[in-house]
Amino acid sequence: MNILLTGAAGQLGSELIPLLSRLGNVTATDRSKPVLLVENWVGLDISDAGKLEILLNRLQPELIINAAAYTAVDHAEANPDTAFAVNATLPGSLARWVKRNDAHLIHYSTDYIFDGSSARPYREMDVPNPQNVYGDSKLAGERAIEASGCKHAILRTSWVYSSHGKNFVLSMLELARKGLLLKVVDDQRGCPTWARNLALASSTVVENWQNPAGENANGVFHYCDNQTLSWYDFARMIFKFAVKAGLLDKVPDLMPVPSSQFPQPATRPKWSVLDTSRIDEVFKIQPASCDQSVQAVISEIGARE
Ligand SMILES: NC(=O)c1ccc[n+]([C@@H]2O[C@H](COP(=O)([O-])OP(=O)(O)OC[C@H]3O[C@@H](n4cnc5c(N)ncnc54)[C@H](OP(=O)(O)O)[C@@H]3O)[C@@H](O)[C@H]2O)c1
Repeated sequence: MNILLTGAAGQLGSELIPLLSRLGNVTATDRSKPVLLVENWVGLDISDAGKLEILLNRLQPELIINAAAYTAVDHAEANPDTAFAVNATLPGSLARWVKRNDAHLIHYSTDYIFDGSSARPYREMDVPNPQNVYGDSKLAGERAIEASGCKHAILRTSWVYSSHGKNFVLSMLELARKGLLLKVVDDQRGCPTWARNLALASSTVVENWQNPAGENANGVFHYCDNQTLSWYDFARMIFKFAVKAGLLDKVPDLMPVPSSQFPQPATRPKWSVLDTSRIDEVFKIQPASCDQSVQAVISEIGARE
């Protein structure tokens, strides 16, 4: 199977490379080279529709995994055109190519398509109501894929982290080493998700598609790891494991604060917990342990230092 992976240098893309390499012949693309070596590498600004079409026609992928995204939630407020080009127009173009060529598409979306007013974890069919430009652009991407009628799985996820890239775990460790009092928001709750677990869920979806019984499983699925935390709770968990692993001498001074003390350009939902029952029912994928995942990421960071 020929596989095209976009966003290969990102948190999720980097975790997908080794898993996809077991499933087929992977061509990886991004603006910058991924940390991991990949045999077939193409540097490309993927919002260039002409170059993308040429690449697709040359490679003829049977599977496209679109891990490319404009993920700078606050910057998106001032750069809606770039956010929409990458998060909405690009997935639409990929999906139409997939439909014309009878291929398959895996794409990723976000908890930020919801407004956070629910009293229970969000299900796939709940009505979206994004509160920021990033969420608007990701929802437009979902709709463009659905409108194409291509074979697809859209995996919505939340609060992604890994041992590299820009994420909350690495930011917290960096701040802790400065020895200052850390104020962390405690009125937004969600489910931190290790990029590797999302990559594993994606490869399970592909394996199901390769099986005649699962080839028609299509649509939107929620995947996140198994604990609901505030950013403050998440920070405490990170520091607990960082001290245990010897990355920090002690847990830094931490103070829970409301979001109102951290005015940011983009509004975030207060509650962005995703219900993962559907992905379990259809693909037998259960949420991974948040505790074990944070601990594993901390040890990867420790091994690198
Ligand atoms: N991160 C989260 O907390 C989170 C939460 C919910 C959902 N998600 C979704 O999960 C998926 C994976 O996220 P992630 O955390 O792995 O994102 P990420 O680390 O930001 O990776 C995205 C990759 O896409 C690349 N990219 C962006 N614009 C591009 C362009 N025009 N041409 C080529 N490459 C481009 C980025 O390159 P540059 O670095 O050069 O821009 C980056 O390597 C995304 O769909 C995201 O929306 C993420």
